Amino acid sequence: MIRKGILLAGGRGTRLWPMTAVVNKHLQPVYDKPMIFYPLTTLMVAGIERVLLVGAPEDLPHYHSLLGDGTRWGIQLSYAAQDEPRGIADALCIGADFIGADGVMLMLGDNLIYGRLDFLRAAVAGTTSGATIFAHHVGEPERFGVVSFDAAGRAISLEEKPAKPRSHWAVPGMYLYGPGVAEHAHRLNPSPRGELEITDLNRGYLERDELTVEPMGRGIAWFDTGTPESLLDAAHFVRAIQTQQGLVVGSPEEAAWRMGYISAAQLGDVIAALPPSGYRDFLDQVLERQVAGSR
Ligand code: TTP
Repeated sequence: MIRKGILLAGGRGTRLWPMTAVVNKHLQPVYDKPMIFYPLTTLMVAGIERVLLVGAPEDLPHYHSLLGDGTRWGIQLSYAAQDEPRGIADALCIGADFIGADGVMLMLGDNLIYGRLDFLRAAVAGTTSGATIFAHHVGEPERFGVVSFDAAGRAISLEEKPAKPRSHWAVPGMYLYGPGVAEHAHRLNPSPRGELEITDLNRGYLERDELTVEPMGRGIAWFDTGTPESLLDAAHFVRAIQTQQGLVVGSPEEAAWRMGYISAAQLGDVIAALPPSGYRDFLDQVLERQVAGSR
C-alpha cells in the first residue's frame, strides 16, 4: 500500500514559451483551474494523503500560497526545491528523506487523468515492491515514453520518445514504486540531455523483472498538457465534461470529501471560504446536490 506521493512541478516548460517566461507551467489555467489542481486531485483520489511538491525554488512560494499545507483538504502537503531541472527521476533523489522506507507514487504536474480511477487505487494498494506503471493507447507515440509488449502481454521494451515507436502504448506520468526507489534513482547516470530519465529508472525495474505494466482501459482520458495544442485540448475536455455532465473535474475540495479526508460540514466551510467566483458557484451547486444525495 502506497501512502505518499511526489508531485512534480519543476522543469523548463520550453514548449509553452513565452507563456512560461514568467509563470510556471503548472500554474497556467486548464479551463477554470490551475493545471496543478488536476494531478493533485488524482493523487488524492488514488488514496495518497501525504504529498511532497517538488518545484523550482522561485516557484515554491506561489505553490504554497495556492495550495497551503493541505489542512483544508485533510491532507499533508510539503515542498522541496529542485535547483535545476535535472530530470523527472531526480525528484526521487530530492524526496529520499520524505520517502524514507516507504513506497511512493510519482505524479507529473502536467498530466491530467480523468475517468474511473478504481484501477489506480487498486494498483496503489497492491504495489508493495518493484514498480507499477501504466500504458495508454495514443495516436502519436513518438511524443512519449513508449512500452511494447510480447504476444503474452508482457512488457519487453521501454523507450523515451522513440523516432520509430514499437507500439502505440505511451506511459502516462504516474508511476508507483515500492520501497528502495530512491536508491535506484541515485544510481542512475544522466542521459545525453543531462537529465535523470524516468524511462531509464523504469527500464531498470523491467530488466530486474520487477516491473508491472497495466494498460489503462478505454474509459480513461489522459492529457499531457505540455504543448499549446494539448493544453487547449485539455481545457476543452474539462469544459465539455463539466458542462455536459454537471460534474467537477480536478477539484481537490471534491476529492477531499469523497475520499473521506474531510466531512461534509468541513467541505461546506471550505467552499464558503472561497472568494466569489465561477469555481465556487459551480462547487456549491454540484456538491450541495451530491452531498445531499449521499446522505
Ligand atoms: P517535461 O514536459 O518533459 O519538461 P518540461 O516541463 O521542462 O517542459 P519542456 O519539455 O516544454 O521544456 O516534464 C514533465 C513533467 O516533469 C512536468 O510536469 C515538469 C516536470 N519536471 C520537473 O519537475 N523537473 C525536471 O527536471 C523535469 C525535466 C521535468
